[in-house]
Parts: sequence; structure tokens; C-alpha cells
Amino acid sequence: MNLAINLKGVSKVYPGVTALDNIDLQVRKGTVHGFIGPNGAGKSTTMKIIAGLIPATSGLVEVDGQDVSKNGAFVSTKIGLLPEQPPLYNGMKVGDYLEFCQAINWDPSEAKGDRKDLMENILTRCKLQEVKNRLIGNLSKGFKQRVAMAQALVYGADIIILDEPTIGLDPNAIADVRQLIEELKKEHTILLSTHQLHEVARICDEITIIDQGKILRTGPLVTIQSEFSTFKTYEAVVRSVGEDLKKELLAKDYIQGFDILEHSEGSLLRIRIQGQEDYRSSLSELIATRGNLLEFRERKMELEEVFREIVRD
Ligand SMILES: Nc1ncnc2c1ncn2[C@@H]1O[C@H](COP(=O)(O)OP(=O)(O)OP(=O)(O)O)[C@@H](O)[C@H]1O
Ligand SMILES: [Mg+2]
Repeated sequence: MNLAINLKGVSKVYPGVTALDNIDLQVRKGTVHGFIGPNGAGKSTTMKIIAGLIPATSGLVEVDGQDVSKNGAFVSTKIGLLPEQPPLYNGMKVGDYLEFCQAINWDPSEAKGDRKDLMENILTRCKLQEVKNRLIGNLSKGFKQRVAMAQALVYGADIIILDEPTIGLDPNAIADVRQLIEELKKEHTILLSTHQLHEVARICDEITIIDQGKILRTGPLVTIQSEFSTFKTYEAVVRSVGEDLKKELLAKDYIQGFDILEHSEGSLLRIRIQGQEDYRSSLSELIATRGNLLEFRERKMELEEVFREIVRD
């Protein structure tokens, strides 16, 4: 069984709203899976269903091969959820709250090492050691979010579900969350929802795009990106583009066209290539001999552009 999460034909109907309409979602073990879509698409609803917080109206929901509707206790030890609105108790101290979260979901039958060691490890990783004796209610938003993250991790769950973990955080705090996810991905399967698509492109192996309760795309990030690029684009930063170089570029039949854009160090030459063959070395050499080449790279279609192609208003 290599699926951490498996949803088949899942629907969720709230009174008057179909939040999920017959969705399939597979998250493979050991992957970081980005779950993206516009506001109201159904991401949080799906995540709550997987974690067993709310039931699906119909369909199959499995976590590590077990049916969520029949094995609630198993699922709650397997999954660590950072929900959209974390249930923090403002009147509790950070350390006491995390011990409480650990106690209710700790599974003694699984060999997860020592509880206290894990707690220390999570307090350190989430940078909470200095505030463990403070009341949650008195912490800043950034620290509250770290506590919310820690409560998903303190009982050693294999699968971590993060619903917009960086919302409302400052750039340093966002970088901390990214680093934490990078560390967690070595040992956990992660399902991550966020509107920060550049983060998804950096961290995730696979993505699923959802809109209006329906799955629009799912698969490896590179596959989805390449589906939208019918031609390759190379970018070269040059000090100047002389007439010689222009003529030579126009003479190459594999070049579909090029644009010359302004750049702080001279010009940016954006070249569209016909087909999928790799012309990087010959082309960079040609430009280097004719045009004071400073930089040469292949331009990948940004996930934002792909997203806008797929999710249209
Ligand atoms: N408890 C509820 N009762 C009624 N409708 C609900 C409830 N929870 C969610 N919905 C509706 O279900 C749909 C999906 O909501 P959901 O919160 O899952 O979206 P989302 O993708 O997480 O959006 P966002 O990016 O804004 O967080 C929306 O139309 C929402 O209004
Ligand atoms: Mg949401």
C-alpha cells in the first residue's frame, strides 16, 4: 500500500451548498502534495474529511489503507492536522497545551520512541522553547501559528495536513515554516494547501488543483507544467544585441521567434524554440561569441500562469 490518503468519489453537501462533488484524491506515501484552488474551492472541507473531523456525505475516504468512517481512533493518531482555524486554548500555557494534545492522540502500540524526547524535539523545531511557560492567549500571531503547527506534530503522526500554514505571517515566519516543511518531508507525507503558489512550486512533488468542488488536475508538478508549454523558451541576459546576432537567430529554423526586452544589465533576449529538443549549449555558445552573454537559462512556465490557465473565472 503506497497511498497515504485515498479518496474515491467523495462528495460533501452542506445545506444548499455542494462543497465537494465526487472527488478522487490520491496522496502517495513520502510525497509533499500541494492542494491548490481558489477561495471556496473545497480544500479545507476535504482536509477536515480526511482527518475525520467531519464526515463525507458519500464516497470512500482511506488513510493508510483504513476507512476513516470506521477507524476514527486509528486515523487521529496517523494524521496531524493544522486546521484553518486552529483550536488553541488561550487560557492554557503552551507546554501544557501541547502535552494535552500529545496525550489524547498518542498511540502506545506504535514504536515512536520516547514521548518526552519527541516533545523536546518539536518545541525546538517550532522555536517554542522560550515561550513554553507562557499563556497561548498572550502570544503574537506568529507564535500562535507555531503552537498550532506543533500540536499537529507532537504525537508523531506519519501524515501531516497543513491548511494554509503561512496565512498572515511575516516573511521571516513564512521562511521558518518553509524550512520546517523541508525538514518534515524527510520523515512524513504532507498534504499542503496554500495560496502561495511559488511555495508550492518549491516544495511539492505533486499537486492537485480543485475548483468549485471538482478536481481539475492532479499529478506530478512537472507534468502539469509541461502540459501547458507547447514550446521551450530560453532567456539570455546580454550586454547588447547586435545586428549580426539578430540575423543569425533569424536564420535558425528551430527558432520560432525572439523578443528583446530591457534589463538592468543590458538586454534580455527571450527566444522561443520549436519542438522539445535541447538547444541550450549550441545557442548559448552562439550568443556568447556574438553578444557579451551574462546569463543563460530555460524559462519554465510559472505555476501561477498554469493555475490561471486551468482555473478560469
Ligand atoms: N459548515 C459549512 N456550512 C455550509 N457551507 C460551508 C461550510 N463550510 C464550508 N462551506 C462551503 O463549502 C465550500 C467550500 O469551502 P472550503 O472552506 O472547503 O473552501 P476552501 O477551498 O478551503 O477555501 P479558502 O481558500 O477560502 O479557504 C464553500 O462554498 C463554503 O462556503
Ligand atoms: Mg480553506
